[in-house]
Amino acid sequence: MNAILTNPLRVGLRQERVISPQCIVIFGASGDLTHRKLIPALFELFRQRRLPSEFAVLGCARRPWSDGEFRSRMAEAMAEEVRNHQIAWDQFASCLFYEPVDLEQPEHVVRLGQRLEGIDRLKATRGNRTFYMSVSPAFYGSGCRSLAAAGLLADPSRSRVVIEKPFGRDYGSAQQLNKVVGACAQESQIFRIDHYLGKETVQNILVLRFANAIFEPIWNRNYIASVQITAAETVGVEERAGYYETSGALRDMVQNHLTQMLALTTMEAPGRFDPEAIRNEKAKVLQAARLADEQEPWNCCVRGQYSSGGSQARPLSGYRQEPGVNTNSTTETYVAMKLFINNWRWQGVPFYLRTGKRLPKRMSEVVLTFREAPVHLFDAAGGSPTANQLILRIQPDEGAGFMFEVKAPGSGMRSRPVDMHFSYDESFGEPSDEGYVRLLADAMLGDPTLFTRSDEVEAAWRLYTPLLELIEDSPWQLPIHPYESGTWGPGASDSLLANDGLMWRRP
Ligand code: BG6
Repeated sequence: MNAILTNPLRVGLRQERVISPQCIVIFGASGDLTHRKLIPALFELFRQRRLPSEFAVLGCARRPWSDGEFRSRMAEAMAEEVRNHQIAWDQFASCLFYEPVDLEQPEHVVRLGQRLEGIDRLKATRGNRTFYMSVSPAFYGSGCRSLAAAGLLADPSRSRVVIEKPFGRDYGSAQQLNKVVGACAQESQIFRIDHYLGKETVQNILVLRFANAIFEPIWNRNYIASVQITAAETVGVEERAGYYETSGALRDMVQNHLTQMLALTTMEAPGRFDPEAIRNEKAKVLQAARLADEQEPWNCCVRGQYSSGGSQARPLSGYRQEPGVNTNSTTETYVAMKLFINNWRWQGVPFYLRTGKRLPKRMSEVVLTFREAPVHLFDAAGGSPTANQLILRIQPDEGAGFMFEVKAPGSGMRSRPVDMHFSYDESFGEPSDEGYVRLLADAMLGDPTLFTRSDEVEAAWRLYTPLLELIEDSPWQLPIHPYESGTWGPGASDSLLANDGLMWRRP
């Protein structure tokens, strides 16, 4: 059964808005994120005619590139896209500039200020600037300090800073970073980015919940028995061992992406559609979240690491054999855990979170399992009727599904579960924008709705503090379970649910 699209215009999170003249300054312009995500997203906005004509990108990094070299490197990295849209690229490339900058060197920052003034004159960007920190997290604080010292953050209505994840390594360092950044700029100027919030399907959690009358009355402990949130990836650590070895799945995926999905799924309805009203509710629900066993966290968390696997034709190496990974590494590439939310709506409902690399399928979803019907009147396929499930498919195959029992055809009165589904692709026909397209546009518009506020990021770190401390102080209490590449993680993760009489959903 397909959901029928009634009025597509009414389901958008926001009306289209106009980006004012401005220069976006990317620190870390020689890095991977710039050519893989940021420049392609800006080019997409350019092609969609959503950028003003008074627009510029200033790439900054230590390498002594020229404007021309920056342009040609970006074009090389996006060769196919450029080939397909050569005329548009040529126009867009004329807005790309480059300045060698080391943010630790005050004279470089002074030169940066002068260059920006030059760009303002050349491109009429009127002193409006979005600074994007795509540098190593160790430089987020000092980078902001340098910009502030050079007066580049002085006007809150014209300057803002976008900060990539991870924002801190734990609760203490996130608090500290918030203090440093907060001393350089107002909270309204700070945009902590989590690219999951740029996904249509993640935003859709809010629309589904609060634009329909049928869900909210049952969206609570009286009707929902448990919730699973999964972000499964088929890729391994790829070229990112340097970063990943210091991070692991808990810091890389759970503290940010999975926690954002948790917050949107569980928050109360905001009083109005307004960035602060929404972020208040997200922060509040995260402050009420707890690991299922804070005293003995090993009872509610499982860590795993992929070992070799695959097939003879396509062998997959184990994490410890990946380039740049310590051969005795105890970094987790898989983590599963159980949480509770101690508030009136969710008290007693278990939330199970899991994420892992080298799993059999790329798939992110939120699954709400409803309580069983109180009386079983009919014979069901497989013994007892399947509990209703609402499945919010974040990616791929974006959409939602609802599992419910129907009468199986035939003479008896047997029931059978079926799936009603909504697909973004079928209903809207065109692929959604990459998360970065949406988020870059919002940052340039100064709309913080889809960015993480300081109290939210702290609440998210605080939630996982007992685990992070355990891993730091007595890692043997939370051992790393190996799992074969291409399987659904360690068996211990299944036991986490089996202890509660449940199973992970296997799509
Ligand atoms: C990033 C993580 O934030 O998200 C990566 O650092 C991960 O390790 C990626 O692969 C997953 O994003 P997506 O959008 O592909 O689910």
